Amino acid sequence: MAVDAPHRTATPRPTVLIARSLPCAGHELLAAACEIVTGGLDVPPEHLRELARGAAGIVADPTVPVDESLLEVAGPQLKVVANFAVGYDNIDLQACRRRGVIATNTPDVLTNATAELALGLTLSAARHIATADADLRAGRWAGVDPGAYLGIELSGATFGIVGLGRIGRRYAELVAGLAGEILYVSRGPKREVERQLGAVRAEFDELLERADVVSLHAPLNPGTSGLIGRGQLRSMKPTAILVNTARGQLVDSSALADALTRGGIGAAGLDVYEREPDVPAELLAAPRCVLLPHIGSATRRARNAMATLVAENLLAALRGDEPPNRVA
Ligand code: NAP
Ligand code: GLV
Repeated sequence: MAVDAPHRTATPRPTVLIARSLPCAGHELLAAACEIVTGGLDVPPEHLRELARGAAGIVADPTVPVDESLLEVAGPQLKVVANFAVGYDNIDLQACRRRGVIATNTPDVLTNATAELALGLTLSAARHIATADADLRAGRWAGVDPGAYLGIELSGATFGIVGLGRIGRRYAELVAGLAGEILYVSRGPKREVERQLGAVRAEFDELLERADVVSLHAPLNPGTSGLIGRGQLRSMKPTAILVNTARGQLVDSSALADALTRGGIGAAGLDVYEREPDVPAELLAAPRCVLLPHIGSATRRARNAMATLVAENLLAALRGDEPPNRVA
């Protein structure tokens, strides 16, 4: 006699909106447990809002503003926003808390990649590497010119690190072999880094005046927005290099372009901009300025690990477990 199988009501799989794109490593983990809706790299904001309706989880990135209105349109079933980034200034954390929505980020796994890119920008800015490469390709090289492309030697230089957290600290380790001195600014003292690398905590003004390289590694927050403006650029040495892999809003780009044009500072290396993907025309026209398209974490290893973390955080939150990288 046939025995009827016990009747089970299938639980609907939760819908997860990947606002723009997520590498396979994370996509596959999510797709195994959820229905996936993807906006795509060029998703217009209005379309994104439509796609968000009914989502239980949203995968965002630094170019996706997660504000009150997006949370509202998503609806009360939204449990988690998982950012594909360590920085989470694009997410309104207060709005998430008010609505009981968990927010997560991807720390640590991109620390090496981003610090290495900051080192690359430092070297490129110091030695005009990008400009020299472009000139050679464009047929503008007529042989060795003893007076051309004269750069700044970094051996023995004073490095000033603003924000000695995970990435700032790794950058300090990477430049330690070159540095004559490492100064840092952070909200609190970093005794271990002081002991290990001989880094010295300084006042912000002192760091700007003394550093040959100023590298920014603080998150965007009310204390860092507009951190480097005209006054700060005037305090820096005329040979100093400014490196920004943190967030564009830390630097007044118009003031920076002016400083580069009039020789107020030596060079700059930037990976981030105030309104990405727009890059201010003044910066594009400024001399001695290396400009990269926000590729700090763009190594295969880092991006796969970030995607995996995004999925682990999101799935944990949907299960009702504590996600490993909760920021709200
Ligand atoms: P983190 O470990 O939190 O380090 C940030 C550091 O900045 C902390 O030491 C913090 O001090 C310090 N800080 C915060 N507010 C400050 C202020 N007002 N003045 C001075 N220092 C301040 O973060 P992380 O993992 O190193 O990442 C740093 C940032 O890099 C991210 O927020 C993101 O914006 C950016 N990022 C960019 C890329 C890219 O692709 N270009 C990739 C990854 C990260 P405390 O130690 O006292 O908290
Ligand atoms: C990238 O910008 C990040 O914050 O991870």
